[in-house]
Amino acid sequence: MVKLILKDIPDFHKIDVYEKNGGYQTLKKALGMSQQEIIDEVKKSNLKGRGGACFPTGMKWSFLAKNDKPKYLICNGDESEPGSFKDREIFEKNPHQFLEGVLISAYALGVKDAYVYIRGEYWRWINMMEVALADAYKKGYVGKNIFGTDFSVNIHIHSGAGAYICGEESSMMNSLEGKRAYPRVKPPFPAVIGVWGCPTIINNIETLTNIPEIVKNGGEWFSKIGAAAHPGTLLFGVSGHVNKPGVYELETGTPLMTIINDVCGGVKNGKQIKMVIPGGSSMPPLTREECLTMKMDNESLKAIGSAIGTAGVMIMDEDTDLLKVLKRITKFYYHESCGQCTPCREGCGWMLRVLDRIDRGEGRQEDLDLLISVAENIEGNTICALGDAAAWPVKWTIRKFRDEFAAKIPKHAVTIPILNKVHGVRKETDGFNILKQNNENEVVVSLMGKVQEDLNDESVRYSG
Ligand SMILES: Cc1cc2nc3c(=O)[nH]c(=O)nc-3n(C[C@H](O)[C@H](O)[C@H](O)COP(=O)(O)O)c2cc1C
Ligand code: SF4
Repeated sequence: MVKLILKDIPDFHKIDVYEKNGGYQTLKKALGMSQQEIIDEVKKSNLKGRGGACFPTGMKWSFLAKNDKPKYLICNGDESEPGSFKDREIFEKNPHQFLEGVLISAYALGVKDAYVYIRGEYWRWINMMEVALADAYKKGYVGKNIFGTDFSVNIHIHSGAGAYICGEESSMMNSLEGKRAYPRVKPPFPAVIGVWGCPTIINNIETLTNIPEIVKNGGEWFSKIGAAAHPGTLLFGVSGHVNKPGVYELETGTPLMTIINDVCGGVKNGKQIKMVIPGGSSMPPLTREECLTMKMDNESLKAIGSAIGTAGVMIMDEDTDLLKVLKRITKFYYHESCGQCTPCREGCGWMLRVLDRIDRGEGRQEDLDLLISVAENIEGNTICALGDAAAWPVKWTIRKFRDEFAAKIPKHAVTIPILNKVHGVRKETDGFNILKQNNENEVVVSLMGKVQEDLNDESVRYSG
């Protein structure tokens, strides 16, 4: 099995061990190449971004505006998506390969200042990166006239304040500028107008850590590893109901069941899989049947309407309460929405309230369609992709596991107001069989017999 990042070499995070294993020699090689030659190798490698959107890195680099303004590189280490915990592993186990990737990329892109943006709560990894960066400065790999050439670059570590939205590239730029982390409307894209109004490339930590291997061995070599359309390895962060959760580097296209059974020791207590989220909480989930044949690369997942995201794989066994899972995920996005766009700001709270009433046993027959409809009205209608991230789990979990959600909704039950807003007071709820009184204005009633007619009554439609 090819290991490009987590190489299992003891103390590899230390600069002298990294150097003994050929560390920083690819930077030397790169400085002997032209900038375009490096970009061409990255294009040839077909490396796709590891931050979630799977965008081709070489293509992104080629969009960098060619003008007189300074160019910036931002390394995205915000890693706040629930279920994603692989960039931290790089900071801890292989920080110098990441820094070498930043240096080579900075040279190729004509960057003089690169920023490593790390989520504020990750102080442990911020400290580790500060040590690694100081060591690299001391050895002369970062700073002025690197390897005696006229290439100079500074790398700055910047800690965020712990908001998921800061991981979105345009809000990260606002955050770096000291502003509130609101995502920006695109276009213009960062490669044209980015941080401080200058052309900027933003890449994920894992993406950049692959660069030294590509420049060392050639783009074509890299393009032949793993799945053809999404080559290389991925750091799969596996969590949930498996015996050995953890971060595992595996080739793209590795079968999901190999990851679960052979790498992670199988599902805990010999249970069956109910659902798997393949790439961080925002990615559409897989049913057990889909898991059995699924290969873990973006193209294979796209074929069934999902995506690889951050390769944060969450395994849920047959006993998992999917309503509770969906409520928890939705609560996260509701909390993290920056509030700029109405569909995201209002829709996330709306979905959460509906899920919550189903969980309280007060769900209405129309609620599942309502949830899908709210999700579809968020999707594609917002400034940034947090809206999609909130909508997809709701829409797809309900579509794929509808029976489980429907079973939580009392049959023949509906919530109605006691006080009829249109016609005045409803007298002792007019023959409805009261199941539960919610509060002084609202009751849950059983819809039996003659009461069905009342569904056409305005008052019922005004309920809630
Ligand atoms: C709400 C939101 C949060 C994001 N969080 C991260 C993150 O923590 N890390 C990351 O690399 N990309 C994150 N992204 C994706 C970035 O906007 C961007 O696409 C990525 O950093 C580009 O790097 P790549 O091309 O190397 O994948 C997030 C996107 C959204 C919409
Ligand atoms: S989609 Fe949500 S998080 Fe993104 S800009 Fe709009 S309100 Fe903010």
